[in-house]
Amino acid sequence: MAYQTRILTSAELPVAVSLLQQGECVAFPTETVYGLGANALAEEAVTKIYQAKGRPSDNPLIVHCHSRDQALSLVEGWPREAQTLMDKFWPGPLTLVLPKKSLIPPAVTGGLPTVAVRIPNHPLALSLIRSTGLPLAAPSANLSGRPSPTRAEHVWQDLAGRIPAILDGGPTGWGVESTVLDCTTYPFRLLRPGGVTLEELRELVAIEVAPDQYGPTEPPPSPGMKYKHYSPAAQVVLVVGKDIQQGIKERIEECRRQGQKVAVMAWEEFRRDYPNLTFLSLGRAGDYNAAAARIYQLLRRADEERCDVILIHGLPQESLGMAIMNRLQKAAGPNIIQT
Ligand code: TXA
Ligand code: MG
Repeated sequence: MAYQTRILTSAELPVAVSLLQQGECVAFPTETVYGLGANALAEEAVTKIYQAKGRPSDNPLIVHCHSRDQALSLVEGWPREAQTLMDKFWPGPLTLVLPKKSLIPPAVTGGLPTVAVRIPNHPLALSLIRSTGLPLAAPSANLSGRPSPTRAEHVWQDLAGRIPAILDGGPTGWGVESTVLDCTTYPFRLLRPGGVTLEELRELVAIEVAPDQYGPTEPPPSPGMKYKHYSPAAQVVLVVGKDIQQGIKERIEECRRQGQKVAVMAWEEFRRDYPNLTFLSLGRAGDYNAAAARIYQLLRRADEERCDVILIHGLPQESLGMAIMNRLQKAAGPNIIQT
C-alpha cells in the first residue's frame, strides 16, 4: 500500500496514537535510533512493519514498553539477576530477552519462544506508548540492510510512501541501538553490544558474549546476526591492527588508481592526514559517545556525496567502542583489512 507519509511534530502526538490504535505503523524517536512501531499484540499490524522495511520475517522485533509492569505482563517469568538490571538500566538502551507469554503473536518473535523487551528513555516515546495503551513492537526505522536512522529525515529517505507517519523528535541521543541480552540462560548472553556496555553489565551480573561466528548448520543465537546490516551504497572497508594509517593510505592510492571517489572516517585529529577527500569526522579522539551519535549519519553522508568507497579507522573494542565496532564490522562484511 502506498501512503502519503506525514511528518508529525510532538504537538501532533494524538495523530500518531490514533494511527497506532488503528493498526498502522508509525516511526518514532527513541534515545538510541528511530523505531518503526506497531501494536505488538496485533499480528496484522506487526506484519506491516516487515512489509514497510522489507525485513525478513524470521528476524524478531523488540517490544517497547512504558513501564516495568507493562513489560513484565508480556513475559512468563524473569530471573532475579534480570530484575537487578531493570533496576539499574531501565528506562534505557538495554533490551532483555525473556520467555514470552502467548499473547505475543509469533510474527513479533519470528516464531521464537522468547520476546525482547525494553523501556526507551525518551519522553516522546514514553508518552506515545502510554497514550496508546499498547506495547509497541519496533525495529529500527530504516529499510532493511540500510544504516539505522538517527533523525526523522533519515526515516523519510528510507520509508516515505511506505508508512503513514513519522513522529519527529529531533536527533536521537545515543546513535547506536540498545544492548540485547539473552536472560534465558545464566550467565546471560550478550547477543548485540549497544548503549549499555559490557563492562557496566558485568559489574552486576555474569555475562558471556555470544560468538558472532557460528557454524553453517546451527542457528545463530539471535536471528539478526545472520543478515547484512547498516550498509550504505558505497563499499565499506574497515582497517584495523598495528598500522591503520599506513593501511588506509595504501588503500586510498589503490582506489584513486581505479578512479574511485574515497571517503575516510576517523577521529577529527586525523583530518590533516587525509587531504582532498571526503573526511567523515568521528569527533574528538576517544569520545565514543560522540562517535556513536555520528556513525550512521556519516555512512549516509558518504552516499549523498556519491563516494564509491568508505575507508574506516578501526577503534578499540572498549566501552561503547564495542558497539560501534560491531556495527562497522557488519557494514564492512568481508572487507576488513588487518594491518
Ligand atoms: O535501540 C534499539 O534497540 C532500536 C530502537 C528502535 O529501540 N531497535 C532495534 O531493533 O535496533 P532491531 O529490530 O533493528 O534489532 C533488534 C535485534 C535484532 O538483532 C533481533 O534479531 C534481536 O534484536 N532480537 C529481537 N528479539 C529477539 C529474541 N526473541 N531473541 C533473540 N534476539 C532477538
Ligand atoms: Mg536494525
